[in-house]
Amino acid sequence: MIEIRPCHGFAELEACVQLQIETWGYDPSDVIPRKAFRVAESIGGQVLGAFDSEIEAQAAGKKLEEGSPHALVAFALCLPGVKIKNGKPVAYMHSHMLAVKAPYRNRGLGNRLKREQRKEALLRGITHMEWTFDPLEIKNAFLNIHRLGAIVRSYRVDFYGLSSSQLQGGLPTDRLVAEWELDSPRVKAILEGLPAASRVIEERITVPASIYQWKASEADRGRALAVQLENRRKFQQAFLQGLAVVGYSLDAAGNGTFELGQVGADEAD
Ligand SMILES: CC(C)(COP(=O)(O)OP(=O)(O)OC[C@H]1O[C@@H](n2cnc3c(N)ncnc32)[C@H](O)[C@@H]1OP(=O)(O)O)[C@@H](O)C(=O)NCCC(=O)NCCS
Repeated sequence: MIEIRPCHGFAELEACVQLQIETWGYDPSDVIPRKAFRVAESIGGQVLGAFDSEIEAQAAGKKLEEGSPHALVAFALCLPGVKIKNGKPVAYMHSHMLAVKAPYRNRGLGNRLKREQRKEALLRGITHMEWTFDPLEIKNAFLNIHRLGAIVRSYRVDFYGLSSSQLQGGLPTDRLVAEWELDSPRVKAILEGLPAASRVIEERITVPASIYQWKASEADRGRALAVQLENRRKFQQAFLQGLAVVGYSLDAAGNGTFELGQVGADEAD
């Protein structure tokens, strides 16, 4: 059984840091340290962990550390943010990191952590969450848009600058901004597994399934870069025209396609 709950104590925060390093392979200059996790949880952010009760049971009796750092198999880190709306400051959540240990992936844990982030934010009256994601990561786009119902209306070129992330493949850190209207009828329907309202799709932007191999191989990285640059241009043009990513589809070969159209009144802030 996997329990999702806020992390407690320094040892569990440190376990998040270690899982971060394991996931992204960051060098020390890119790692978000334990102190920053501590700050996030103490200023209205969230540090949620997923804990495997089997690992916990095996370790029972020899627990020397506080909490259950050895049982942490995933975490989600959120920072509080402020936007000015109609001249007034409004709080929202910025989800900065979501990581699931490799053997625990594709079992719905990432989805559960996002739902828990949403639940906790709504309990505090926060109705908007954002995060950035790499448009070349097909799986993440599928989860964010198709499974969670986030929309996208902006593109950040090389958002973080040079990154040592092993997932980045040395490419510029281009990011899309996912906007999640936590309490919107659309998001609620999608989370309940109901079909999203049909819409007119005016533009499609595809990422080939082979992008993962291309990013990982030095010989093929140029092909990944070409896709990134071409899609960057398409996204920028579409967003300038007022379109938004409102859907995501996968074909049988694993290619992912962003579907862009007009955003409905119940879908955006
Ligand atoms: C992204 C990540 C957090 C997702 O966690 P997860 O627990 O594996 O996600 P879930 O199982 O909840 O959902 C993933 C979905 O993508 C699907 N999927 C898996 N591989 C896929 C692929 N290559 N292409 C498209 N979809 C894919 C899964 O089947 C699942 O869909 P389903 O709900 O229909 O079964 C995890 O893969 C991870 O830690 N990745 C590395 C770090 C990262 O990229 N973090 C996010 C950015 S901060």
